[in-house]
Amino acid sequence: MFTDTHIAFVGGGNMAGSLIGGLLHQGLNATHIHVADPNASQLQHLRQRFTVHTYTDNLSAVRDAQVVVFAVKPQVFRDAARPLTVTLAKNRPLVISIAAGIPEKNIRRWLGYDAAIVRVVPNIPALIGAGAAALYANPSVSSAQRTLAKNIFEAVGLALWLGDEILMDAVTAISGSGPAYFFLLMEIMEASARELGLPADIARQLVQQTAYGAACMALESRDDPAALRKQVTSPGGTTAAALKILEAGKLRELFLRALTAARDRGVELSNEFGKEGS
Ligand SMILES: NC(=O)c1ccc[n+]([C@@H]2O[C@H](COP(=O)([O-])OP(=O)(O)OC[C@H]3O[C@@H](n4cnc5c(N)ncnc54)[C@H](OP(=O)(O)O)[C@@H]3O)[C@@H](O)[C@H]2O)c1
Repeated sequence: MFTDTHIAFVGGGNMAGSLIGGLLHQGLNATHIHVADPNASQLQHLRQRFTVHTYTDNLSAVRDAQVVVFAVKPQVFRDAARPLTVTLAKNRPLVISIAAGIPEKNIRRWLGYDAAIVRVVPNIPALIGAGAAALYANPSVSSAQRTLAKNIFEAVGLALWLGDEILMDAVTAISGSGPAYFFLLMEIMEASARELGLPADIARQLVQQTAYGAACMALESRDDPAALRKQVTSPGGTTAAALKILEAGKLRELFLRALTAARDRGVELSNEFGKEGS
C-alpha cells in the first residue's frame, strides 16, 4: 500500500522537497519519509516544513527503505551511491534516480548488483504539483514497484512510462527543459506588450493569464493545438497578421533546431557520465 511505504531520499534539495510535499499531500505519513543531505540547514528546513526524519549520513536514511530516491546532482551520484551498495544489495529496495543524464546501466554498475531501477526525468513545476515526468524501468523492476514509482510521481503531476531509455534525452529536451521555453515566450510577450504601450503590471498579468488559459484549453479540448490555433485565427485578422510574421521568421525550424540541440547535449552528458571508470 503506497501510504505505508518507507521512502528514503538521498539528497534533500529542491526536487526532493517537491516530491515530499506531494507525497504528504497524497496521504503518506511523514514518519515514513527519511531524508539524508550533508547540509544541516537544508535538513532543518525540511524538518520544519514536513516533520520528516532527517540524517546527515545517507546510510542511516536508506537502512530500512523500500524505495530509495537519489535526488542528488549527477556529478555526486556515484560517490553518494557507492557506500550504500552493501545495504541496498541486501535489502533490494526500488531505486529511483531523478539525476539528469545518468544511464540506468551506470547506476546498476555503481550499486554492484542487479538493482531494480526506475530512471525519471521530472521537471520543475513539480514544485507546485504541476510537474510532467517520464519514467523508465529496468527489467528488474516488479509490477508492484512500477505502480509505486508511478504513484510517487503522480503525487506531483503527470507521470508517463517510456519503454525505451534512449528516449529519455528527448524528454529532457521537451519537458525537462520545457518550462524555460515557455518562460522565454512569456518574457518576450511581456516585453513586446510594454513596447506597445501597456503598463508593466498589466502586461505581466495579461501574459500570465493568457498562457494559463491557453494551456487549460489545450488540456481540456479534444482538438490538437493546430486545430485550436486555426479556431482563433480569422483569415485577414489580427492573429493571422502576427502568425504570418512568426512563420516567415521560421519559428518552427528554430524550435526544432533548439530542441535537437538540447537532446544532443543530453546525449553528450549521458556519455560523459557513462564512461567506464566514471
Ligand atoms: N530542479 C530541476 O528542475 C530538475 C529537473 C529534472 C531533474 N533534476 C535532477 O534532480 C536532481 C536534484 O536536483 P535539485 O534541483 O533538487 O538539486 P539540489 O536542490 O541541489 O539538491 C541536491 C541536494 O543534494 C545534496 N547533496 C550533495 N551531495 C550529497 C551526497 N553525497 N549525499 C546526499 N546528498 C547530497 C545537496 O547538498 P549541497 O547543496 O550541500 O551540495 C543538495 O541539498 C539533479 O540530479 C537534477 O539533475 C532537477
